Amino acid sequence: MMTDPDQAAGRRRRILVTGASSGLGAALARHHAAPGRTLLLWARDPARLEAVAADCRRAGATAQVRSLDLADSAAALAALAAEEAGGAIDLAILAAGLGDVRGRGRTVEEAVAVVRLGLVNFVTPGAMAAELAERMAARGRGDIVLIGSAAAAHSLPFAAAYAGSKAGLARLADALRVAVAPRGVRVLLVEPGPFDTPGGRLVPAPAWLTRRPEWVAARIARACERGQPRLTLPRFFAALRWVDRLLPRRARDRLLRALAPHQADAP
Ligand SMILES: NC(=O)c1ccc[n+]([C@@H]2O[C@H](COP(=O)([O-])OP(=O)(O)OC[C@H]3O[C@@H](n4cnc5c(N)ncnc54)[C@H](OP(=O)(O)O)[C@@H]3O)[C@@H](O)[C@H]2O)c1
Repeated sequence: MMTDPDQAAGRRRRILVTGASSGLGAALARHHAAPGRTLLLWARDPARLEAVAADCRRAGATAQVRSLDLADSAAALAALAAEEAGGAIDLAILAAGLGDVRGRGRTVEEAVAVVRLGLVNFVTPGAMAAELAERMAARGRGDIVLIGSAAAAHSLPFAAAYAGSKAGLARLADALRVAVAPRGVRVLLVEPGPFDTPGGRLVPAPAWLTRRPEWVAARIARACERGQPRLTLPRFFAALRWVDRLLPRRARDRLLRALAPHQADAP
């Protein structure tokens, strides 16, 4: 395995952040903004992207924005190749994602949501991570961070598309990690509980469980520097995963159905 002094020292010069126009992605972009770094910021909304890029430039980083829709996986892979042609990506943080819960009066989420969330939360970040993993493995170094969700561990009846898309991402992240670790590439799967962002506010969560995106971003950066394979936060959700696994199925199903009132404020 090649040893790279920059990676060993936790210095990453060329950093891709998807979902950089809002919430956690924006907080991660600002966290990593520093002199000597180039931030490649992706999302759809060019104005919000530019505002984040301006913050990053004020912190001394070089920031480039790219407006694209991750529902188009082929366009995302072409854009990734273009970014790599401009210089090897040292750290890729795939933070873009969509939340969802079933609408009022529905039993499950709409079929179209399964498609949309499948593409944005699983297919495109999964394809990008696979492409980056191969390229980074050839270079013998690199970090990939995938933002999943604590929801991936639970069969949420009001958010089957969301939980399913994030569960797919979690499995893919772990499989990639196992494949590329011997080649000097690290993959971190982040499984956060609720944090306070425009996306997070779609599903009301108790205040004591809800974190600020800056808090989450700082912990992700630290976990990445340490080479952790997985970060579940707050820890409450790691315990909840075990409860879900250990409860008898009928009791677990009853509990999950009882969560239904939490969909009330969904759009
Ligand atoms: N907030 C929570 O409570 C929570 C909990 C667990 C996991 N997560 C996950 O954490 C990540 C960040 O969430 P957040 O709360 O920060 O969400 P957010 O504030 O809604 O931001 C989502 C970001 O993803 C981008 N995005 C969404 N759809 C896109 C598409 N089709 N193409 C390109 N970019 C797209 C958005 O940019 P544009 O709108 O400009 O395209 C935005 O930058 C997501 O993966 C989410 O699933 C969030």
